[in-house]
Amino acid sequence: MLKGKKILLGITGSIAAYKSILLVRLLVQAGAEVKVVMTPAATDFVSKLTLATLSKNKVLVELADEATWSNHVMLGRWADVMLVAPASCNTLAKMAAGICDNLLQATYLSATCPVVVSPAMDEDMWHHASTQRNLSMLREAGNAVIPVGKGELASGLYGEGRMAEPEHIIEYLEENFFRGSNLKDTLCLVTAGPTYEAIDPVRFIGNHSSGKMGIAVANELYMNGAQVHLVLGPVESSNIRSGIKVTKVNTAEEMYNACASAFPATKLAVMAAAVADYTCKEVAPCKIKKSEGHLNLELEKSKDILASLGAVKKEDQFLVGFALETNNEEENALKKLASKNADLIVLNSMRDEAAGFKKDTNKVTIFDREQKRISYEAKEKHLVAKDIVELIIQKLHAKA
Ligand code: CTP
Repeated sequence: MLKGKKILLGITGSIAAYKSILLVRLLVQAGAEVKVVMTPAATDFVSKLTLATLSKNKVLVELADEATWSNHVMLGRWADVMLVAPASCNTLAKMAAGICDNLLQATYLSATCPVVVSPAMDEDMWHHASTQRNLSMLREAGNAVIPVGKGELASGLYGEGRMAEPEHIIEYLEENFFRGSNLKDTLCLVTAGPTYEAIDPVRFIGNHSSGKMGIAVANELYMNGAQVHLVLGPVESSNIRSGIKVTKVNTAEEMYNACASAFPATKLAVMAAAVADYTCKEVAPCKIKKSEGHLNLELEKSKDILASLGAVKKEDQFLVGFALETNNEEENALKKLASKNADLIVLNSMRDEAAGFKKDTNKVTIFDREQKRISYEAKEKHLVAKDIVELIIQKLHAKA
């Protein structure tokens, strides 16, 4: 996503400038071109040499030295995004007031690209009315502000004002400026994770699904420009792109209800959840006490979400299912493709070392309606999601 993107990084005088070193490294690793402009105060905290080495570009501080004048206008035009991180209280105030007393300010004032600031300061400064007013002015002027974090501050106090972590800043840039447009505004529904079917107030029937594969697919759809609604079973919901709408559910019935109401407006649905096939006919109101002999639970079939969506699917809707198998993989996957009226089915086999619950990798084979199969190498789940979404995009474009 950041490959080939031009990021102009402004660094100001704040102890958080040490994080800019990692930020530059991560940006360069992600394939971005990085140029760094520092305020004179920033050079007290981090060295030009370190930043020049990591960014592979000369670091600029002064508007002019004896021999050259730094063309701040062209710097702002070169960049796809200007990011000021850390943005100190002083720099924020100067940006809001339009003061032009150093190269960073001159570059900001002449930048034609979007500008993002990632503030860093102590909590009292952060909450000061002047700082908050300056931030409002900067937002009104069309700049973006990355929220500060809460935690230990340079003063030793604990509170708000920490600069966002470099990984978070990168995610922010990707999500806000560099999303693709292959699925622009396409409404997508994704299910992920297990479902828990209650036995009594303290026990449930569940499975080992981590939701990682479905979340990776939701993220990938989102980064291709889609509007994504993720219906997520009871798992950890970190690593979900912030623009994704998330509906948390527990049971198969709740997942079914959420999907049934969202599906009519949906263009593309990817059902990656490991939904319980059976649910308790009756949930005991109190904890079941152990007694002599066996315990019999009466289970009834839960609704098959993928099959129900397949049954009402319209011509312009595209439906993708998953099949997790332990044996007769291909035959079972093809049966599911047909019986659930899906357009694609993604098969993963528990017999593959790289596949299975809770792992960060997967190995899939995808079948289409013509029973054409595409087998992929084992790879990390976010890369598997890329393959799946790439194929979906091809199919959607071929259909259009
Ligand atoms: N699925 C669903 N609702 C269910 C059961 C499954 O939407 N109640 C979906 C899954 O999300 C997946 C596909 O159906 O996309 C296949 O799920 P899987 O568990 O592999 O198969 P089942 O249909 O449950 O059949 P079986 O357990 O017999 O293999």
